[in-house]
Amino acid sequence: MLARPLIERKRDGGRIGSGEWRQLMAAYAAGDIPDYQMAALAMAIYFRGLDRAETGALTDAMLRSGATLELAHLTKPRLDKHSTGGVGDKVSLVLAPLIACLGVAVPMMSGRGLGHTGGTLDKLESIPGFRTGLSLAEATQQLEELGCALIGQTGEIAPADRKLYALRDATGTVESIPLIAASIMSKKLAEGLTGLVLDVKFGSGAFLPAQERGLELARTMIELGADHGCPVIALLTAMDRPLGRACGNAVEVEESIMALKGEGPPDLMRVTYALGAEMLLLAGTVRDRDDARRRMEVAISSGRAAEYLQRLIQAQGGDPRVVDDPGLLPEAPECDVYVAPRAGVVACVEPRAVGHGIIALGGGRTRVEDVIDPAVGFVITARPGDVVKAGEPLATIYARDEAGLAAGREALTRAIVVADDAEPPLPLIAYRITEAGVEAYTDG
Ligand code: URA
Repeated sequence: MLARPLIERKRDGGRIGSGEWRQLMAAYAAGDIPDYQMAALAMAIYFRGLDRAETGALTDAMLRSGATLELAHLTKPRLDKHSTGGVGDKVSLVLAPLIACLGVAVPMMSGRGLGHTGGTLDKLESIPGFRTGLSLAEATQQLEELGCALIGQTGEIAPADRKLYALRDATGTVESIPLIAASIMSKKLAEGLTGLVLDVKFGSGAFLPAQERGLELARTMIELGADHGCPVIALLTAMDRPLGRACGNAVEVEESIMALKGEGPPDLMRVTYALGAEMLLLAGTVRDRDDARRRMEVAISSGRAAEYLQRLIQAQGGDPRVVDDPGLLPEAPECDVYVAPRAGVVACVEPRAVGHGIIALGGGRTRVEDVIDPAVGFVITARPGDVVKAGEPLATIYARDEAGLAAGREALTRAIVVADDAEPPLPLIAYRITEAGVEAYTDG
């Protein structure tokens, strides 16, 4: 197929038809269209955009470039949650076992950390032995037997997206709403879901910091879901500070285990319960949000959710004893307390600086092939608005060596600002977005 006329048409503001998208993405996945032409097209899309039908056709073309999970034979509803990415965002680790133990199938496909944001797969792999590289056949069997599988985007799923995403990352074309929406939804629709809940982040640490852009991304993905018969609901949640206290890999797994035992930090639990309630409502297994919340609380207080996590870890080759003894997770040889440099109010805990700090410690990547150190990271107890005294502990740094501790201190000096006063942080959960429109979020 000839890509050049399509590139020129999009460059000049024209439309690409459904059949053309299908041929184009199939040819790209097969290696018949060179990266330089696809990069030019991605840049044309970045500037010209795609309309609803084109975004749907691109999504469909990427979805069809690979295999899908065939789960229609499962009698249970099948729900996933996807976050657009942040720092300290370990909600997936808590939600997957919590919702699966309430009788909903959760085929959860997650990604790796890239840029300043963390990735669920990296966090899970800090559990000794844990395998995220299940084949689709293995994931299907585990979903049949256990009701949940935590997997990555295998080579089988949406290979055209995998190739295009790497290209966009290298060509400054990631931040395009139709390209992000098509990329995320091509993978989510490959999971054979009956419903999807999106956690769209906004604020300085989000992929798209501006609230309006976050809302547009949410609306675009909801439309894609509707056009493919998969109901989607989104919450717009704050990423102007890390979520919870732990930021890293093993430290986030430990915080997630504590959350499943009823000892999670309040912000993490509020977002987890809000997203979980939307999943249970979409699954049709609860009367309303109060009912959903009660069931999740009972699953945690009874020990059922933590016990389910143990079974899930065991099923994927990990050491289930970490749930009873998080001391079995990788531990950093060095740690140090970071204290307030002066008295005042915590004006911000900047997530991007924290995320870059994790990379500087060795716990994140600058290139896809980098190997990460699962043990390093931060536990940040300071929250925006806290009144602190000079010398008061704000965070703990976990590092491999002295140089890591120094890098950690430097990152926290940039991230945590103590000032005379502080602006209020963004609302933790700002909006609920459905096909019907956007509403301000209230917990009731
Ligand atoms: N995550 C994805 O999977 N794709 C994007 O384009 C952006 C974030």
